Amino acid sequence: MGMPDGWQWDRTLFQGSAAYYERGRLPYAPGFAGTVATALGLDGRGRLLDVGCGPGIVTLPLARYFAEVVGADPDEDMLAEAERRARRRRVSNVRWVAARAEDLPAGLGEFRVVAFAQSFHWTDRDRVAATVLEMLEPHGAFVHISDFKNAPPDPTPLPLPAPPYARIADLVRRYLGPVRRAGQGTLVNGTPGREDLVLARAGFERFERHVVPAGDVVDRTADDLVAWAFSRSDSAPHLFGAGLEDFERDLRAVLREESPDNRFSERLPATEIMIWRKPGGEG
Ligand SMILES: C[S@@+](CC[C@H](N)C(=O)[O-])C[C@H]1O[C@@H](n2cnc3c(N)ncnc32)[C@H](O)[C@@H]1O
Repeated sequence: MGMPDGWQWDRTLFQGSAAYYERGRLPYAPGFAGTVATALGLDGRGRLLDVGCGPGIVTLPLARYFAEVVGADPDEDMLAEAERRARRRRVSNVRWVAARAEDLPAGLGEFRVVAFAQSFHWTDRDRVAATVLEMLEPHGAFVHISDFKNAPPDPTPLPLPAPPYARIADLVRRYLGPVRRAGQGTLVNGTPGREDLVLARAGFERFERHVVPAGDVVDRTADDLVAWAFSRSDSAPHLFGAGLEDFERDLRAVLREESPDNRFSERLPATEIMIWRKPGGEG
C-alpha cells in the first residue's frame, strides 16, 4: 500500500514550493501542540522526530515539550526555510536532517514521539511504519497531524468572498492536464488514506483521535492565494515550465474577478490528530 507501485521520492515534488509554504498554507489550529502535549503527557524530556517536516510548521511549536528535536525532510529548500524560522523564533533544541522517511532510522537514535504532519501519505507507508516502531521507546507514540477534511459546512456568511478554489483547480488543470501532477509523474489514485490499517499492520495499538477546532476566520490576499497554489506539489512552480508567468497572470485575473480588491475570507480548518502507541516491552 502507500504510494503507487514504482513511486519513489522525487526531488522535484515540492521544488520551488518552500518559499511559498508558510505564507500560502493555512496554519494548523492554534491549540494543536498543547493537545498533543496533554494527550501524551509530555514533560520536556525525551526526543521528537518530525518526518517530512517541511519548513518546521509542526516541529517548532512542539519543540518546547521535548529535550531534543529532529526535523527530517528530503527537500533541502524546506530545511533551509525551517532553519531560518527556528532562528527567528529562537528555538535552539532542533536540528534538521536531509532524509527521506524510507532512509530511516539513519542513525538518529530513539524517540519518544515520531510525528508526520501531512507527509505520511508521500511515503512507502508500511515500510516506514515498521521502521518507526523500531525507533520508538516502549509506549512511544506515532502522531499523525492533518487538516480535518470532513467538517460539516458552516453556513455563517464570511465577511469577504471565499477563495475560488474550484476555479483555481480548473485553471491548474488547463495548464497541467486533467491528472494530478506530482514531481515528474502523476498521482492517478489520489492521496492514500486508511492510516489505521497501515499502523495496525505494523503492530501499533491504543489508537486515539483528537479534533482541535480552529474557530477563526482569516483574511487572505491574492498574494496569499498565489503562494497557496505554488506551495502545493500538484501546482508547484517547476510544473509550469515556461508557462509559469502566464499561469500566475491568469490566476491573478481569476482572483480579481472574484474579489476586485483582492481580499478574501476563509475559515481555518480544524486540525485532526491521530495517535498510536508502540506496545510496552514488559506489559
Ligand atoms: C505537505 S508538506 C508538509 C510539511 C509540514 N510537515 C507541515 O505539516 O506543514 C509534505 C512534506 O513531506 C516531504 N516529503 C515528501 N516525500 C517524503 C518522503 N518520502 N520522506 C520524507 N518526507 C517527504 C516533502 O518534502 C514536504 O516537505
